Parts: sequence; C-alpha cells; structure tokens
Amino acid sequence: MMRIGVLVSGRGTNLQAIIDACEDGRVPGKVVVVISNNPDAYALTRARNHKIPAFAFSPDTPDLEEQAIQKLKEFGVDLVCLAGFMKVLSGQFLSEFPQRVMNIHPAILPAFRGLEAQRRAWERGVKIAGCTVHFVDEKVDHGPIILQAAVPVLESDTLETLTERILQEEHRIYPEAIRLFAENRLKVEEGKVKIQGAL
Ligand code: GRF
Repeated sequence: MMRIGVLVSGRGTNLQAIIDACEDGRVPGKVVVVISNNPDAYALTRARNHKIPAFAFSPDTPDLEEQAIQKLKEFGVDLVCLAGFMKVLSGQFLSEFPQRVMNIHPAILPAFRGLEAQRRAWERGVKIAGCTVHFVDEKVDHGPIILQAAVPVLESDTLETLTERILQEEHRIYPEAIRLFAENRLKVEEGKVKIQGAL
C-alpha cells in the first residue's frame, strides 16, 4: 500500500478527493500525513475527520521545509502530493523525494502558470480551459506533465462556473495520476512522462 503525504494551505478539496479515492479503493494507497503551512487551513479538519495525522506550521517558520521533510520521512511517505500548497519548494526538498512530488494546477500547462490561473485564462478569452497534474521541479508549475483534462468554456459561463467545472476535473485526474504512480506506470524520459499500459 503506497504511503502518501499531502501538503496543503487551504480548503483542501483536492486532499478530500485523494482521501476518498484511497478509501474507496480507486487508489491503492493511503494518505498517512497532511502538512499545512497555514494553521487555519480547512484541509487540516478534513484530515482529522479521517483520523489522518495533520500538522500545521506557521507560514513564517524559518525551517518549514526541513520540518516537513522530517515529518514526511517519519511517516515513511512514498509520494508527496501538493494540493493547493502555496509555497515554492526548494531543490533541497525535491532532492529528498526525487520524481516523487506531484502537483495539480488549474490550467492546461504550459499556459497560465502561477497564481489565479483560471481568472487569467477566463480574461484571456480561452475556449478550452482545464487542469494539469505534473511532477514538481524547481520551476513553478513546470515539471513533467502526467495527466491533463480539457474543460470547454461555455457561452453561459462565468468565472465562477468555469472554475467549478475545472475543479471537478481536478478531483478526477489527481487521484487517477496517483493511481498510475502507485502502479509504477509513470516513466519520465527526456522531461516527458510515458504512461505504460492502457489508460
Ligand atoms: C486548486 O485549484 C489547485 O489546482 C490549485 O489550488 C487549488 C486548491 O484547492 N493548485 P483545494 O485546496 O484543493 O480545494
């Protein structure tokens, strides 16, 4: 059973999707620890509701990364999932978990990296929005792409309805990417993820 650590900063709907997928057997894994850099994150409550150990650090903790690494190791984590974690991780952190840190981004990368991606895509007038799960490297929203989902922009959409439909797709593809990882089906070659076997 793969052991998953999730890093969060906010409401934690993606964390919830991952927990639910583990609990109902869609993902052969278990969320064993949740770490937040925001003590008020509702994600912490979600973790505790499922009896998952959850730790909060104040965002200005100077050695936050070191402490997070220590906790993730203490809990024997095989995969680190960023789920709305609002801090850029250093190369040092990533070298502790090589090719074992994933992130979800609410845009079709490489378009609209960074904050408020849905709003910027909406304001740009894109016809296809979406989301991406990728391995994390040292650049923001940049590493090898694992899965993407397209979300057509409807004439009737508002930014809010579009953001909500993108979020529904996030909740679908993040557990799916974790499942592929757990099944050892993701191989990174020349910066690209090759998925082994039929999807
Ligand atoms: C999601 O839109 C995710 O794509 C982005 O941050 C948001 C987190 O939402 N990285 P939640 O905390 O998972 O509800």
